[in-house]
Amino acid sequence: MAELSVKHLLGIKYLNEADIDLIFETADHFKEVINRSIKKVPSLRDITIANIFFENSTRTKLSFELAEKRLSADVINFSAGQSSVKKGETLIDTVNNILSMKVDMVVMRHPNPGAGIFLSKHVNASIVNAGDGAHEHPTQALLDSYSIREKLGDVAGKKVVIVGDILHSRVALSNIFALKLQGAEVKVCGPHTLIPKHIETLGVEVENNLLKALNWCDVANMLRIQNERMEISYFPTTREYTQQYGLNKKILDSLDKEIVVMHPGPINRGVEITSDVADSKQSIILNQVENGVAIRMAVIYLLASKIK
Ligand code: CP
Repeated sequence: MAELSVKHLLGIKYLNEADIDLIFETADHFKEVINRSIKKVPSLRDITIANIFFENSTRTKLSFELAEKRLSADVINFSAGQSSVKKGETLIDTVNNILSMKVDMVVMRHPNPGAGIFLSKHVNASIVNAGDGAHEHPTQALLDSYSIREKLGDVAGKKVVIVGDILHSRVALSNIFALKLQGAEVKVCGPHTLIPKHIETLGVEVENNLLKALNWCDVANMLRIQNERMEISYFPTTREYTQQYGLNKKILDSLDKEIVVMHPGPINRGVEITSDVADSKQSIILNQVENGVAIRMAVIYLLASKIK
């Protein structure tokens, strides 16, 4: 049986093209499963998974939990805000206490970049990064590429622009790695202050003009401004940001071709994207969410097969 080259999913950076192909083939199978009347398979009946979230989440947390339950794994959930972390317990102590309850896999979201990498070196369990600060969000990038493949037939050769707060976005970095690995052309677009210096070294081009970027692309991935990661102002006002980098229906309808619109969520309606765009037929935002369950089932199933 084909297997992943990695024991943990810490970032797209550590995957190769064959890993992505294998995850997508496995997700194709699980997507068929979750559309059956009985949406569950017994594959992981002997596996226990802890979802530990040190940062807020709606989509990722629910999607991982559902994926685990669809695979028949035993699941425990931990939110730092209601835990003994508030009494000063460290990350390693917290996780080792959870693991002593015979847990096989840890899915972790954490505000610190590299938290998953750190954990993988100190505990004996398979670690899945569910977003580490402004670093990586690998399952989001996988479900994004999978959704492009589903909509356009392939990722290779497609032109994708990632718009907005690239500087603070783990979604942007993981998407850049995933899209480049699969042969897509990638541009980033946003205010100079929200584009990291030297981003071109990742093989992407910078385009500061939204209209030019949109007229170039097949797919626009609109990102949220990550106010929670900003200690200073990176643009004068939200209104000005929206005027220059917000996508509205008038702009969408003025483009030379019909592009696909994506957003990882949560959406700030009226800031980076208007409701009539988010809810338009060109938007695949809810397809992304649906595909997240199949992708996470695939990732968990493939990683679990390495610890059995
Ligand atoms: N896309 C995403 O990571 O959303 P949540 O923060 O709600 O999990």
